[in-house]
Amino acid sequence: MEPIRNRTKQLAKEFIEKGDPLGWFERLYETAAGDEKAVPWADMTVNPNLAEWLEREQITGTGKRAIVIGCGLGDDAEALSQLGFEVTAFDISPTAIAWCQKRFPDSAVTYQVADLFNVPATWQGGFDFVLESYTLQAMPKEVRDRAIPHVAALVKRAGSLLIICRGRNADQPAETVPFPLTREELGAFQNQGLHEVTFEDYYEKDTSARRFRVHHRRAEF
Ligand SMILES: C[S@@+](CC[C@H](N)C(=O)[O-])C[C@H]1O[C@@H](n2cnc3c(N)ncnc32)[C@H](O)[C@@H]1O
Repeated sequence: MEPIRNRTKQLAKEFIEKGDPLGWFERLYETAAGDEKAVPWADMTVNPNLAEWLEREQITGTGKRAIVIGCGLGDDAEALSQLGFEVTAFDISPTAIAWCQKRFPDSAVTYQVADLFNVPATWQGGFDFVLESYTLQAMPKEVRDRAIPHVAALVKRAGSLLIICRGRNADQPAETVPFPLTREELGAFQNQGLHEVTFEDYYEKDTSARRFRVHHRRAEF
């Protein structure tokens, strides 16, 4: 896995340096040519940080709409669908979306190519549950600062946003992908009409990576 991670960091760096910070995702999926081992975040199962939260919070989705931002190969979207949500899952990479459709041909999830910075107007304020997992951390700071209002805009009144990302203290460096986030920058969601319900800061058992898992909610009125 290490050579793939290093190649990914190098690819991201090249694209960021040439001023195309979102261009490397499609290149990576395209080059992987259907081999998930070439996609460092593709565990081919639901993210355990999400699964654990859904179970702990006893989340059910019947009659509710969910959206998965930067859905990758689709496992988290499928998990939400299994809970009864009507799920839209989107990714900027056409190859990733085609891969999801191939993996889950009978899925109830609507997989769609879209860029978070330019989503259909009908999605604004349209979702009871918004999942952002590992996508903000794949963007350099100035890009994710701009992304935060676009993530928040998808959450409907009384709806929830769950963010799962790498975490760091403000005085720790974030030089390569994945760029861990700070608690302070995640505070920006509270300028977008959301309030923080829980903020969890922990070390993941299997990888010992430091994670933040943050649940925000939009007020009902
Ligand atoms: C690090 S991967 C994580 C994928 C998935 N969430 C997971 O946990 O396996 C980040 C994903 O976000 C997608 N992405 C990056 N920028 C995006 C944007 N502006 N709009 C939509 N998707 C984006 C990438 O193509 C990639 O699939």
